[in-house]
Amino acid sequence: MTFLSVILLVLCLGVCFVIFCVSIYFIIITFSSGFMKHSPTIPTTGKTLSVMLQKTSEYIDTHSLNHSLNIIDAGCGWGTLLIPLARKYPSHHFIGIEYSFLPYILAKWRVRNLPNATIIRQNLFTYSFHEADVILYFLLPSEMKRFSLKLKNEVKKTCFICSNRFPLYQISYDEKIDLNDNFSCVYIYKTDGYNKF
Ligand SMILES: C[S@@+](CC[C@H](N)C(=O)[O-])C[C@H]1O[C@@H](n2cnc3c(N)ncnc32)[C@H](O)[C@@H]1O
Repeated sequence: MTFLSVILLVLCLGVCFVIFCVSIYFIIITFSSGFMKHSPTIPTTGKTLSVMLQKTSEYIDTHSLNHSLNIIDAGCGWGTLLIPLARKYPSHHFIGIEYSFLPYILAKWRVRNLPNATIIRQNLFTYSFHEADVILYFLLPSEMKRFSLKLKNEVKKTCFICSNRFPLYQISYDEKIDLNDNFSCVYIYKTDGYNKF
């Protein structure tokens, strides 16, 4: 074995070790949030993603005639929902709140060229939603009661809320879109000038 092949072998082993460690870390933080009763980072995908993007776009198109909206993804993961919208609507403000380190870093890197998008590392239960015009979320059912009570105290009289899969607690929705797989659905809430909360 030549000196060069030893160096190459050591380099390959080093790279494999780093990839292994990063993967293990990623798996641990993703699934440990589940064990701690917070939702793991599972992105909104497929038909649910299309419906949420379409419904949110329709709302933005009809409610932003003369002013910029504040659009918040509560638990933004790595920005699957937030980034396509931030690209489509450069004149609106997009805020992703995420407390898990790796998804936060990844989302922050992905929005580096989007001046209208900000990713904040924070527990969403300590974030104020008073200024939110649009709220998107995909959280666990166990977080719904606390999240709903928080929104009840904080949301504006004109606000649009769009949920992947789990409804707010004891708040009637305006629209439920079933996605025909007996599992996925999207819930929409519009306060639209009256305080339904
Ligand atoms: C199921 S993922 C959804 C990601 C993204 N919103 C989407 O739909 O693609 C939920 C994310 O919310 C984050 N999360 C859960 N509870 C949170 C909390 N209390 N504060 C901040 N982030 C939270 C998790 O770390 C996870 O990345």
